[in-house]
This record gives sequence, C-alpha cells and structure tokens, in this order.
Amino acid sequence: MNLFALNTPSITGEVLCPGDKSISQRAVIIGSLINQDMTIVGFLNGEDPISTINALNAIGSSIEINNTSVTIKQRETAFISPKEDVDLGNSGTGMRLMMGLISSLGINVRLVGDKSLSKRPMLRVSEPLNSMGANILCRDGMPPVQITKGNIKNNFSYDMPIASAQVKSSIIIAALAANESVTVKEKYQTRNHTEKMIDYFGGSIKSEIIDQENVIYLSPSKLDITKPYKVVGDFSSAAFLIVAGLIAKESNIIVKNVGINPTRSGLIDILKSMGGEISIRNQEIICNEEVADIHVQSSALKGINIKGSIIPNIIDEIPVLSIAAAFADGQTTISEASELRVKESDRLSAISYGLNSIGKSHELFEDGIKINGSKDDISGIPEIDSFGDHRIAMSFLVASLRSSEGIHVRDCANIFTSFPGFIDVMQSLGVSINET
Ligand code: S3P
Repeated sequence: MNLFALNTPSITGEVLCPGDKSISQRAVIIGSLINQDMTIVGFLNGEDPISTINALNAIGSSIEINNTSVTIKQRETAFISPKEDVDLGNSGTGMRLMMGLISSLGINVRLVGDKSLSKRPMLRVSEPLNSMGANILCRDGMPPVQITKGNIKNNFSYDMPIASAQVKSSIIIAALAANESVTVKEKYQTRNHTEKMIDYFGGSIKSEIIDQENVIYLSPSKLDITKPYKVVGDFSSAAFLIVAGLIAKESNIIVKNVGINPTRSGLIDILKSMGGEISIRNQEIICNEEVADIHVQSSALKGINIKGSIIPNIIDEIPVLSIAAAFADGQTTISEASELRVKESDRLSAISYGLNSIGKSHELFEDGIKINGSKDDISGIPEIDSFGDHRIAMSFLVASLRSSEGIHVRDCANIFTSFPGFIDVMQSLGVSINET
C-alpha cells in the first residue's frame, strides 16, 4: 500500500489513542497462563496482537477478539503441541515472549515469522532461556525457532548484556509459567509492563535499584483475575500525533487516554527540553499503568543531544523524534542507539534514506545519527521508502505537515501492525492522507 499525504498547514482536534501494543500482547499471554475466564478491553486490534492471539490459540488457548474487546475462556485441557508452524507475522514481541512461555509448557512448537521477523536476532532470547533449562534451536540465530520440552531451573539469575524489555519479559514469563523464582538485572531500565501486570494480578514480583542496576525478582506466584483488564493507550502511537502537533504551522490537539508509564514516556521530557509546548492533563492509574490526556501546540523547537539510559525508554520513538529534529533549529545528535539497526527495519538507515529524500542534512553513524535541523519546509514532492516498517512510514507521513506539495510514502501496509486507525485519526485532525 502506497500513501500520499498532502501538505496541511493547520491541525486541530481531540483524538483517542489506540491500545498499547506491548501491553495488549502481554495481557493475552499472561491471561492464557492464568487460565481463568478473562475480558480485556481497550485491546489493540492490530496485526501484531492478532498474531499473538493466533499463536496462543494454536497451542490450545481459547481467545476471541471483537473490535477492541477480547475474551479468554478457561482451558479445560493442557496446552498442546500444534502440528503446523506457528506464525508470528511481523511481531518481534510476539515471538520473543511466546518463546519464554512455550519453553515452560512441555510442548513442541516451531515459530516462524514474515520476511522482516525472519531476519531478526533471536539468540538474545534463546541463549538465556537455554541456560535456564529450555530447549530452543534457531536457524543462524534467527527464526524459524524450534522449541522442545525442557526443564526450567529454579533461582535462575540473568545479567542482561543488552537493554531489551522483550528479553527481560521472556525470561520472567518462562519462570512464571514454570512456577519458579528468577532474578533479572538490567543496567538501563527498559519498559516494565510485564512486571506491572504480574503485580496487578497478585504475583510476587519486585524491582529495586542495586549498584545502579534495576534488579527484578519473581517468586512462584498464583495470579488471579478479578475484573476486566483495561489496556491503556499506546505512547508510541501517540508520539506520531504529538510530533505532528509540534511541527505543524498551526495546531491545537489533544490526544486522550495515552499510557505515560515513566519507562515509556521519556520523549515528552525530550520534546519539552527542545521547546515543545506539551501539557499533561487528567492523569490517573488504570490497571497499574499511568494514563493521561496530552495537549500539544505548534512550537519552535531547538536541537538536543541524546544518549545513555534514556535510549531504551524512547527506542520506538526515535524515527519520529528525527522528524521533530529535522525541523528544529540547530543540531540534534542521537547516539548509543545501535539497537535501531535490528528493529522491523534497520531504522537508522531508513531514517537516513528518508531524510535524504526530504532534503534534510544529517550524518549517519553506526550507533546513531546527527541531524542538522532547520525551519525550512520540504520542497518538491519527495518519495519515501518505508522499508516495510510501520514506524518509518508514519514518521514520514507526519513530515508532510511541513512539505510544500505533499509526500509519497511507499510500502505502508505495516502501519496495520501497530496503529490500524492512523489514517483515520490523522484525517480527523485535518490531514489529507490517501492511497495512491
Ligand atoms: C517491546 C520492547 C522493545 C520495543 C518493541 C516492543 C516490548 O524492543 O522496541 O517495539 O513490547 O517489550 P526490545 O526489547 O527489543 O528493545
């Protein structure tokens, strides 16, 4: 699917943020494990969470989705070994978290993915899980992933060599499913939705900072569902709308129901330091997660330097932050972000190709990018390749707000993995986006 976004000088309105992708996937995985009747509302009805539901149903769960409501029925039998491959589509989170779950279930499963997922590194998950007692084989460290019956140890402890919430969550879910204790240590705090969800359902999990590391302990836990679980809005989706509001010539927008868990919302502080007029309203806690409405107005931004512990917090927002930086006054340098090279695309290269096409000067490094921002609008009608990556596609569609004649973005179908309502939401704010 190719899209054309016309130049739009002004955007206004109030929009609802779609459900969080990370939390939606964790809710169906942990919900299947708890094995009680469960209702989830505010679920992200996108391709990634649906792949995860299909994978869980393939191993014996009974999950149905109706719009943004999901029901899980209590299983009467144990999990099963499916005869066919289980396809996680484009979802790295789905595959890596399912690896943790399946490792403890005593079943045999072969996990596969689409072209992009088949090139993503899986040893970062299979190695610690195998040290924990799992039995996982990957082809050249990538999918397909073959999991056979293992024997998960008690009191496994893992010091994470990379900052990854998927790795951390996979290990915690394996221990949870095996009813064993585990300790995971991370140098830089990554998103903590798994920990918060286990705590919300009554599990024995705690985190503390020891010698500058975040240390998470899980003890054998019996989780319980007492009421419907409500998924808060996805900060990573809201980020496109926030940056759209900041770079548009005139804007006044409110994004409602945005998850602002501090391990996810570092972009707000960054954009505020860049001069962004952003305010947080109606803050509350839903199912252990902080949520609020975010008000954004068009702002004159300036460049910033970003590296270190904030990187895992904003990892999915760096593509759209690069768009904000491209229209800011002065240089923005983002470093220590080499993880971007192994996302749905090599996002550092994809950002660089896109910035070249819209005529924004920058320098690409192995672990980051330096963007020489300027207030100049984009001239001509550039054509951008999304490299099949949803976050690259949406970032450059947002950049159309500062174009003189519009922007073409090729290969946008992947938007449906994380933000299926993106085009409608942008149109409701006044942006014209159409298929070509
Ligand atoms: C996610 C963690 C991050 C993020 C991904 C979702 C999760 O990946 O980029 O989109 O749900 O745990 P890593 O753990 O690989 O950094």
